[in-house]
Amino acid sequence: MWQWLRRLLGWKESSRRDDVVLEAEKMPQHVAIIMDGNGRWANKRGLPRTRGHQKGMERLREIVAASCKYGLKTLTLYAFSTENWQRPREEVDFLMSLPQVYLERELPELKGNNVRVRFLGRTGELPLATRRALEIARQETAGNSGLVLNIAINYGGRMEILDAVRGIAKKVQEGELDPEEITEDTIANHLYTADLADPDLLIRTGGEARLSNFLLWQGAYTELWFTPVLWPDFDEEVFKRALAAYQARERRFGRIPGQNR
Ligand code: IPE
Ligand code: IPE
Ligand code: MG
Repeated sequence: MWQWLRRLLGWKESSRRDDVVLEAEKMPQHVAIIMDGNGRWANKRGLPRTRGHQKGMERLREIVAASCKYGLKTLTLYAFSTENWQRPREEVDFLMSLPQVYLERELPELKGNNVRVRFLGRTGELPLATRRALEIARQETAGNSGLVLNIAINYGGRMEILDAVRGIAKKVQEGELDPEEITEDTIANHLYTADLADPDLLIRTGGEARLSNFLLWQGAYTELWFTPVLWPDFDEEVFKRALAAYQARERRFGRIPGQNR
């Protein structure tokens, strides 16, 4: 009886999830994801944290493929923050080895999907082997015109703003720029994301409701969506729910409900 009931409920649940209908014309152009919860996923199973990171990396294929399928222009993934260097040495070393594994393995599929891979952050400070893997992926996909996949690695929002301020200050010092001419666009154009639109939707998995230094400038009017689902469990169905939630929102940008732009 219980089994039957559970099966019935299970069926209902999955059929409800399948009911999520997305509207092509309301699709966000740029989605950013804070991929959090790998450590807890592993802990729950009595596994080392590194297994969680490995499992998390394996989720990328499905989410990148879905992003292509839904016609997103840009997907920005937070892979390693400037604060993550403070983790135990073994964990940092393991995380630094992941781009080599992932990029090498996924490159054919990324190319097949016309994905252009780029990196946000102070990549020059990464270990040499990691840097090489990034450079190969960047070069080999540079000519692609489909989804722009930004991987934020050694990325910090404050560091990004600091780097922009330095760049601008230098131009002022060299007489190239008048301080009075500095606008919001000047700042945006000196960020790592210079040529990209701001994210429309930011998803954070793992249950925490904070930004953890991600896209501080660009996120001024981004819609936020938090889920307790841990990143290694984040699949296309959950992604779809996030996109549907976004489509149900009204973005007002300071105006009043229903006000025409
Ligand atoms: C996110 O998962 C991955 C990185 C920050 C590199 P965590 O490793 O932060 O997992 P939790 O938050 O400890 O569960
Ligand atoms: C944010 O997750 C960084 C990444 C997902 C790469 P953290 O796990 O580092 O964030 P905090 O420390 O809980 O804020
Ligand atoms: Mg975390």
